[in-house]
Amino acid sequence: MHSFHYTNGSLHCENVSLAQLAKEHGTPLYVYSAETFRDRFTRLDSAFSGIDHEVAYAVKANSNLSVLRLLAELGSGFDIVSGGELYRVIKAGGDPSKCTFAGVGKTRAEIEYALQQGIYSINVESEEEAAFISQVAVEMDVIAPIAFRVNPNVDAKTHKYISTGKSENKFGIDFEFILEAYERASKLPNLNLKGLQMHIGSQLTSVDPFVEAVEKVGPLAARLKADYGIEFFSIGGGIGIIYEEALASGKESWWTEQPEDSRPITPGKYAAAILPGLEKLGLKILLEPGRFIAGNAGVLVTRCLYEKKGTTKTFKIVDSGMHHLIRPALYEGFHEIVPINEPSGAIESVDVVGPICESGDFFCQNREVSSFLPGDLIALMSAGAYGMVMATTYNSHPLPAEILVDGDDSKVVRKRQTLEDLIAPEEL
Ligand code: LLP
Repeated sequence: MHSFHYTNGSLHCENVSLAQLAKEHGTPLYVYSAETFRDRFTRLDSAFSGIDHEVAYAVKANSNLSVLRLLAELGSGFDIVSGGELYRVIKAGGDPSKCTFAGVGKTRAEIEYALQQGIYSINVESEEEAAFISQVAVEMDVIAPIAFRVNPNVDAKTHKYISTGKSENKFGIDFEFILEAYERASKLPNLNLKGLQMHIGSQLTSVDPFVEAVEKVGPLAARLKADYGIEFFSIGGGIGIIYEEALASGKESWWTEQPEDSRPITPGKYAAAILPGLEKLGLKILLEPGRFIAGNAGVLVTRCLYEKKGTTKTFKIVDSGMHHLIRPALYEGFHEIVPINEPSGAIESVDVVGPICESGDFFCQNREVSSFLPGDLIALMSAGAYGMVMATTYNSHPLPAEILVDGDDSKVVRKRQTLEDLIAPEEL
């Protein structure tokens, strides 16, 4: 299910050695597997082949141009949340008419750009926004295709910072108000009420909240189809991935040999759970997966600089940190840490920390990991989604390079930032 594995005692991405890539391009380094991206997209797409559907990859998860191109070549649509993401999709060769535009705070410039490019739908998050889009569309003399995002008030049972479908979250329009929103919007000029959208949260590890949301919102979609002729229902993204046993989960057998109740959400399991509620609607179903497609397709390779033994802890200090992969600091996210040289079996309890002047700058705390020493390379697994896209230059560290591996080939798809790049936009 992914393409990172030990070959001849050394961790590889497909047929390429990560140690070799680190030697050529330095560290820290993001490395992606084209094969894993294709595998994930195709499995999900195939699981819904029985109904009219489209996989619209959530660009926010990993927006590297080469990643977008790879997905565009597979026929993917794109879920975007800014003018910047639309610009990337277009530059990568993606089709704007397969783009949906979400987000609570779209600016006039972004709305105009999206309408000029002829995107499939603007997913609207408030009635005020609908009125504004109508006004902009009138000025531009175009029809704006829109869908409202409904907030179904369903508990996604995920980290509170990535839960989006509860009424206390800022997203969408409360389920109770949604019919009135369509009613009022139907009277506004230059709007085409094209669909309905929802997204309840990210990194869901059970299908139950998805089923609950489809059961609750499906009848609403049917009603909107009858009343306004909507053509699509987007069920959002959110499928969780494997973080804890990320390396082991690369083998197909790991997915099939797990007991049923402990198995991760597979595309088949996801589709089987929600298709009964979707099939009968007769609407085009949009899926907006980000993490599911990109997460296990990337690793962050970093080198251990020092080891510091304190009275209570051992710190392994590495050349990357929260500035390149903020998930542990921000969401208590777990990324499996493995040495690039196949481990001998020795284990130690450590904190793996970065160079940033923040106590929150850690990749793990008090975790049993396979031993490694200063000078050794390690990989942070499952870093393909919400890794590089959330990286910053905090403490004035240049951004890492990104490499895309495809079989025997590897390509720099983003150059390492230089010190000159770092200060280039600034003026004295
Ligand atoms: N659609 C909408 C409207 C979204 O807001 C999101 C994610 C997605 C789709 C894709 O969700 P996914 O399939 O990737 O779960 N930075 C956080 C995740 C933030 C997710 C934001 N919205 C993390 O690293 O866990």
